[in-house]
Amino acid sequence: MTEQFLWGSATAAYQCEGAWNEDGKGASIWDEFCHSDKNTTGITGDVSCDFYHHVEEDIRMLAEGGQNTFRFSISWSRIVPKADRVVNEKGLAFYDRVLDACEKYHVIPNVTLVHYDLPDYIGAQGGWCYPGVADEFAYYAAVVFRHYGDRIPLYVTINEPNHNAYCNYCVGNYPPNETNLQHYCQCAYNMAVCTAKAIREFRKLGLKAQIGVVQGCGPATSLLDTPDYQEAVKYCNYFCNDWILDPAIKGEYDPQLIAAVQSRGIDLSFVKEEDLAVMKDNTIDFLGQNIYSRMLVKPNTSGITAFTVNNAGNNDGSAQAARETRAIAGWFESDRDPNTKLNHWGREIFPECAYNTLMERKRRYGNIPIYVTENGHGCYDAADENGFVEDEERIEFLSNYLHYILKAKQDGVNVKGYYVWSTMDLYSWINGYKKRYGLVRVDYDDPARKRTPKKSYYWYKQFIQDHQDL
Ligand code: BG6
Repeated sequence: MTEQFLWGSATAAYQCEGAWNEDGKGASIWDEFCHSDKNTTGITGDVSCDFYHHVEEDIRMLAEGGQNTFRFSISWSRIVPKADRVVNEKGLAFYDRVLDACEKYHVIPNVTLVHYDLPDYIGAQGGWCYPGVADEFAYYAAVVFRHYGDRIPLYVTINEPNHNAYCNYCVGNYPPNETNLQHYCQCAYNMAVCTAKAIREFRKLGLKAQIGVVQGCGPATSLLDTPDYQEAVKYCNYFCNDWILDPAIKGEYDPQLIAAVQSRGIDLSFVKEEDLAVMKDNTIDFLGQNIYSRMLVKPNTSGITAFTVNNAGNNDGSAQAARETRAIAGWFESDRDPNTKLNHWGREIFPECAYNTLMERKRRYGNIPIYVTENGHGCYDAADENGFVEDEERIEFLSNYLHYILKAKQDGVNVKGYYVWSTMDLYSWINGYKKRYGLVRVDYDDPARKRTPKKSYYWYKQFIQDHQDL
């Protein structure tokens, strides 16, 4: 692959494809969840922005916006729709079309094997906690590697194991909607085994392509630097970062982390020597790092274990407004810096976190190549009568974060690419279609799903042009 800096934007299968049951696709846990009573809004990704039927248009627009790379994910249940493991040729053909369009427009694909949408037949057996999930994943991954090979230069095994496990088993807002720390640990462990076993399949083929994993949060940090605050930071990092990244990058768990997890009464009998051996020999080539916000923590004085998110999008900036918080009794709890802004969904906007995240990754993991695989601002967009959105708020967010990302690169972090979340508006997990992230607006009232580039699309194009020397 060429050594040019990658400038692009990202999507994920369930959030944009639609065509949820077309051409032999099987159901994923998100199809199942969204069609069930547990989905209190009734909003689904059944059609979404219908990328399935807009592939050429979306990739052409991306390229016309000056971008040279596109991050998307493959829907596992399009490729292996049922538990019988029969491969769906029409599913493979769909992503061939996506890759054809990438080639036509000189766009480098960066492809994730699973972005939250586990097949429902695995969900029915215990989902990410099913002990057989890693073998199923390795089978599916091998089908993908053999079929697409080096047409895809950058593969990602799993999007955000940390956030996925966290939402599934701590907050409980993603299927299977549980709050269970034991299952959180088991899920995160199984995901690490999935990554390692998929990489073992990948290496067998001797491809030139590279493979990585995408992490969803940055390192924890605190307002004070006293020993009790340092402890809170350490435990939060065990929980959100090290538990995921150490096995993927170093091929092993930190024994102190294992001891800390056990001291909480987590039963680690699911950890198997043979899995640890696979992890040791099969680590990633690059790290994908998603950057949205800071994880600010303090010592846990409440004695409470609780996790909250704001899926209502009603944060008005007041002290009482619902925000994202996480707390584990005895370990850490979220802190609030009154000097920073929150978005409507209660998430802090803190551009410096981009710099701190990247520098901390370098400190812990050395010169590993890093792609910023997502960075974006979710907000309520207002379109004029032509569908045009003057999204100054998004431009301000992106330019402030980019400033710190490029500063980290200048200060020696091996940053190789950057992706705006998202290429076009798409389904936001639980938040539906009102929370928008796209560089391109999608008109959901229009059956044809008309696309209109936003002001941020043109701003990004110019930004890329101005940074050709990277
Ligand atoms: C990332 C996910 O964590 O956050 C994306 O990888 C997601 O899939 C994005 O859409 C924004 O989250 P949300 O909940 O605001 O859509």
